[in-house]
Amino acid sequence: MLSVTGLVVGYGDSIVVQGLSLHVSEGEIVALLGRNGAGKTTTLRGLIGLTPPRSGHVWFRGKDLRGLPPYQIARFGIAYVPDDRRIFPHLTVEENLLLAARVLNRRGPWTLERVYQIFPSLSLLRRNLGTNLSGGEQKMLAIGRALMTNPLLLLLDEPAEGLAPLVVQQLIRTIEEIRAAGVTILLADQNMHFCRRLADRGYVIDKGSARFEGTMEEIWRNEEVIRQYLSV
Ligand SMILES: Nc1ncnc2c1ncn2[C@@H]1O[C@H](COP(=O)(O)OP(=O)(O)OP(=O)(O)O)[C@@H](O)[C@H]1O
Ligand SMILES: [Mg+2]
Repeated sequence: MLSVTGLVVGYGDSIVVQGLSLHVSEGEIVALLGRNGAGKTTTLRGLIGLTPPRSGHVWFRGKDLRGLPPYQIARFGIAYVPDDRRIFPHLTVEENLLLAARVLNRRGPWTLERVYQIFPSLSLLRRNLGTNLSGGEQKMLAIGRALMTNPLLLLLDEPAEGLAPLVVQQLIRTIEEIRAAGVTILLADQNMHFCRRLADRGYVIDKGSARFEGTMEEIWRNEEVIRQYLSV
């Protein structure tokens, strides 16, 4: 579904992602793992053109995404949930959701009702303003908003960061439901335990390159990889 080779992404003079390659098949949950500053967010930003890649190839369902602006890439069916969420604070939960659907207008199974079904707490908060949501509720809203664009591939940046353990449990179940509904998922997270419970495969990133690729079990059992690239 997604195939990336030799991706190079940087800011100004500094090259952050240095020739990264990865692939994601339809129906998979794939994790990008790595310490703070490894280049996970920059990789996701490069894929969707928010920080245009300097070189490399990005193919999504047979289309070459290189050089395309973010809104065009979104139209092909890739949705990005940034780590800082970017909820519109002065719109209600429901307005945030509806706006996302209207801006992109991609048809598909995801509607307000369906999003409320998988996030029942958002349904209860539908008239609340974005400013009045907890961190966990904002994360849910950000994912709900992405679903309203009916994505085929969902990019999640640090979805579990800062959430209480019980909320993380719930989030894991919800992300599994989203996958079961036919959405493929690429997530960036430095929390090995979280990724292990959710992902099928992972890429361990360090200094902007993939150092190891394998099933989550293979990564988990590889003490050397964990020691070198993941433990703090
Ligand atoms: N807008 C920016 N301008 C310049 N440098 C940046 C910018 N954003 C990130 N960087 C640098 O790029 C490197 C990789 O950052 P990135 O945010 O991609 O890492 P990350 O793996 O997502 O880390 P984290 O786990 O902290 O989210 C870091 O050295 C960071 O300082
Ligand atoms: Mg990041």
